Amino acid sequence: MLWLFVFVLAWIPFVRGDGQQPIMNSVPHRVPTIYNGSSVDPQQSCPGYMATSVKEIPGIGFSATLELNGPACNAYGTDIDKLSLTVEYQNVRRIAISITPKRLTRENESYYDLPEDAVLKGYMEPEGGKENSEFVVDWSNDPSFWFNVRRKDNGDVLFSTQGFKLVFENQFFEFKTHLPSGHHVFGLGENLGDFRIKPDTVRTLYNADVPDLVGGNLYGTHPMYLEQRFGTPAQSHGVYLRNAHAQEVLVGATYLTWRGLGGSIELYVFAGPQPRDVIQQYEEVIGYPGLQPYWSLGFHQCRWGYSSVDDLKTVARKYRESDIPLETLWSDIDYMDRRRDFTYDKEKYPLADFRSFVDDLHAKGQHYVPIVDAAIYAPQSEDEDYPPFRRGIHSDVFVKNPDGSPFVGKVWPGPAVFPDFLAFNTPGWWLGELHRFHSDIRYDGIWLDMNEVSSFCTGRDCGISDAVVEDSAPNGVFSNGTIARVPHPNARNLDHPPYVINNTVAPGELGSRTMPPSSIHAGGIAEYDWHNLYGFQEAKTTFVALSQEIHPGKRPFIISRSTFAGSGKFTGHWGGDNWSSWDYLRYSITQGLSFSMFGMPFFGTDTCGFKGDADKELCNRWAQLNAFFSFYRTPNDIGPASQEFYEWPSVAEAAQKAMEIRYWLFPYLYTLLYTSHEHGDTFLRALSWDFPDEERLSGMETQFMVGPALMVAPVLTPGATSVDVTFPYAEWYDWYTQMNVNATDEVQTFDAPLGHIPLFIRGGSVLALQEPGYTVAESRNGAWELLVALDEEGDASGDLYIDDGESMNPFSYSYTAFYVCHGGVHSDFRGSLTNINELKAITILGMPSKPKELRFNEEVLPDSMYKYNDTSSVLNVKFTDHRTQGKNWLDNLELEWTL
Ligand code: NOJ
Repeated sequence: MLWLFVFVLAWIPFVRGDGQQPIMNSVPHRVPTIYNGSSVDPQQSCPGYMATSVKEIPGIGFSATLELNGPACNAYGTDIDKLSLTVEYQNVRRIAISITPKRLTRENESYYDLPEDAVLKGYMEPEGGKENSEFVVDWSNDPSFWFNVRRKDNGDVLFSTQGFKLVFENQFFEFKTHLPSGHHVFGLGENLGDFRIKPDTVRTLYNADVPDLVGGNLYGTHPMYLEQRFGTPAQSHGVYLRNAHAQEVLVGATYLTWRGLGGSIELYVFAGPQPRDVIQQYEEVIGYPGLQPYWSLGFHQCRWGYSSVDDLKTVARKYRESDIPLETLWSDIDYMDRRRDFTYDKEKYPLADFRSFVDDLHAKGQHYVPIVDAAIYAPQSEDEDYPPFRRGIHSDVFVKNPDGSPFVGKVWPGPAVFPDFLAFNTPGWWLGELHRFHSDIRYDGIWLDMNEVSSFCTGRDCGISDAVVEDSAPNGVFSNGTIARVPHPNARNLDHPPYVINNTVAPGELGSRTMPPSSIHAGGIAEYDWHNLYGFQEAKTTFVALSQEIHPGKRPFIISRSTFAGSGKFTGHWGGDNWSSWDYLRYSITQGLSFSMFGMPFFGTDTCGFKGDADKELCNRWAQLNAFFSFYRTPNDIGPASQEFYEWPSVAEAAQKAMEIRYWLFPYLYTLLYTSHEHGDTFLRALSWDFPDEERLSGMETQFMVGPALMVAPVLTPGATSVDVTFPYAEWYDWYTQMNVNATDEVQTFDAPLGHIPLFIRGGSVLALQEPGYTVAESRNGAWELLVALDEEGDASGDLYIDDGESMNPFSYSYTAFYVCHGGVHSDFRGSLTNINELKAITILGMPSKPKELRFNEEVLPDSMYKYNDTSSVLNVKFTDHRTQGKNWLDNLELEWTL
């Protein structure tokens, strides 16, 4: 029996990805350099650089040439002998430091710099320049070139390469900065692990089709970190490396080492000084997130394994019968004919029936979103016609092998080619396919999957005959006469670069479970240089197709698995293939906070878990936790037992309770999405972002804020019936009892039986709420209530943004600021969208005593219209007459009291 055990064990590391398909990895894994004790340490062997020709650039900063300071070390490539350094004080709180090859030589001719039209960059702004900047940059050539970025006011050094060498080669770079011991560093994703990065953590950034394994590179790349320092005053700053190559960052105890496989070093440092300022300043460079349609806040149900239209109908019906709001039903690859994009399984998803089901959902105010995979089936015989492929070949839209023929990999449909979203004709072809699909099925958004990009084999050997493809482009010439752009020979070793990253999929193999890095995109761009941008570019192309042609003028709804810095402008994201386990329930919070930091406020994890069976206790807790994420969806893998919320009465009840709160909160949640889009604000927040002076809150991943006003403290362990809650310094009110919790700095225990999620309102908040209906559309017609939670001064504020919820450029909108001061609630209304849904109630938490008199818009209210509760200190005003009906009560609202 032992041999059987050993055999099974030997296979475990290879059964990854979607769990269905072992990774066919024929190449032996190489030891990742960072873990290889005998590998060259560039800090020891490389010469560093010397700055020469240093020039002040008035109003901007300075520039210099960096020359190699000794014989080349060629540690992991070929040293570049001359570099250009530019330092730009771009605005008061942002500095950009760029280091790039000075001239093209034989060694660096294949060097790839990230184009501005691909990924946004920061520019000089009118208030920029050295004088205005909050930073000072020091530099020296002793013993080789180094630089510091420090704060002008208190001298705090934020970034310092002093004592470290700069290494810049054609396939490798390295720079190091000092970190304070006991540092608080966050970010560097997409990875799963501790929210606050512990010393001696390696974060590998290389987009991969893997399930959510802890500590490894996942689907996206976000090369930024936020560092909080809790000195006096507590201040935070951030660093972004605008580089899309494979990277590895070692966060040590007192330093950080950043390594990459190419491109330039384009560093941005953000001065904060508070964490949310840093995030906002980062988003100023990568682009503020797009605004999601209002309906996207509703609850989404999805699974792999709805095997027919009847299955979809049953799910929609059961949700309604159970009175659990269902906004959007999703389809995984089940609807497709043999898993080919833009096709329908003729028997199980007959088009007429499928279409009328989706139309019927729409008639009920609900939505429908199908999956689209990046890979396009490549027919294996000339008799077989798959039009999306035929049209794609004709338009020359697929990624190529170095010989100019399309690269053929293997994904769900079998042999597959990959749209090259850089090619001139691809946007038109992609739009055409999405358009045809939409005229068949009136989908409301698109789920982009497998776009890292995933291909189930390593290298070009997928064991597939590619005869048909070769015929289509013999010698690189396509049937339409276009010639494949074969680049000049690349001086670099693209498939096996000298520096070996710790790729989760297969350590040391860049080309495992994806395209070979030597594959070629339009313009001769190597996949090696573009890999981390595949999903980003696909989402961008899909965004344009949806907003301009398919739902013209409306905000596209896109969820993409693979992302890059700036993806938030085009798409939301889900946390990928997690497990139905308590660990992953908890990781949901870390993932959510990370994507807030990455400028992707529209985020959620797979509620109840994707892989494995969820039990009812876990699902109960998860259904309630994710109700506070912006994207609230329950998907499932093909195998596991059903986990639709109606499967267990107790989960149904828990979900209903949490959803009722969520649906009441829609106006608040939507306003948060709006302020994130408009000003780079954040939706989910770490406690230490909103209370940045409190070091005890740093790295907390068991509680979080939803916007400025709400704190969620979920149960994250099995069998627990209470939660120990940490309260930041403020007044806090229990959502359910509406009473002040009298928070101290001690941890306080709150009952949390199954079906209850502790939720607290921060004193000083005004929340506009709306009575929920079954769908989002119905909820938008509900009556309003205002919930006011007073702070210790008796003040509060809040805001409300309203528009049509779907237009890219709404014709009219309104923005209302509420504020409570001097014994009254007031509003400041701006905009042209008048809302006439009635205001039913105003509830004030923390009212010290019963008002002697209460006036609404200068009229004294009769006693019968309000109640004061001495025990809870809650004042409840109910408008039982017409004074708040049929008019825009948001404009100049006044509720004043005399105590
Ligand atoms: C991988 C995705 O992450 C998962 O959500 C989906 O169910 C499968 N692909 C099948 O399409």
